Amino acid sequence: MDDDVSRMLYVLTRLTRARRILEIGTSIGYSTVSLANAVKGYDGKILTIEYEQHVAQQALKNFERAGVARNIEVKIGDAREIVPRIREHFDLIFQDVGDKGLYPLLFDDCVRLLRPGGLLLAEDTLFPVMGLDSRGTRSVAPIQKFNEMVADSSLLESTILPIGDGLTVAVKMG
Ligand SMILES: C[S@@+](CC[C@H](N)C(=O)[O-])C[C@H]1O[C@@H](n2cnc3c(N)ncnc32)[C@H](O)[C@@H]1O
Repeated sequence: MDDDVSRMLYVLTRLTRARRILEIGTSIGYSTVSLANAVKGYDGKILTIEYEQHVAQQALKNFERAGVARNIEVKIGDAREIVPRIREHFDLIFQDVGDKGLYPLLFDDCVRLLRPGGLLLAEDTLFPVMGLDSRGTRSVAPIQKFNEMVADSSLLESTILPIGDGLTVAVKMG
């Protein structure tokens, strides 16, 4: 993740004082630490989901090292199975899963899990206009579909910030 995206995550989290955060796609936890640094002053909590066991283990070590482990719960497994089963609501959801097919697949669940006034953030949403090489092109169609779902949703107001590979910022109305 680019430094400007991680700083934006920190700023948006502080600005909204989000207490309960869901992150989909942990990797080794760089973005999770940004979110956790923003919430640790008021004891906010992050639930983050990662598919790869060894990657999640490294993230847990990084959270200890960064002094934010008490603010973070890591669920290891497939987000497409975990997210539909979640029942609690969140102030902020950050979608950054590696398999971009999950962006449109989990869109309705993300909107359901967001409290009114909550923020949906999503990384890489300018992929469709970036002229990606062949490795990236299979991500374009699902991101395009996700962008249309966000833009067409009567429950969201949104924009895409041109930082990193594009960061969607959407607020749930109502
Ligand atoms: C782009 S990385 C996340 C980066 C992280 N948010 C950051 O900025 O530091 C995407 C992660 O999603 C994970 N992933 C891919 N498919 C997944 C799935 N179905 N469920 C959960 N995690 C998945 C990958 O293993 C990878 O670590």
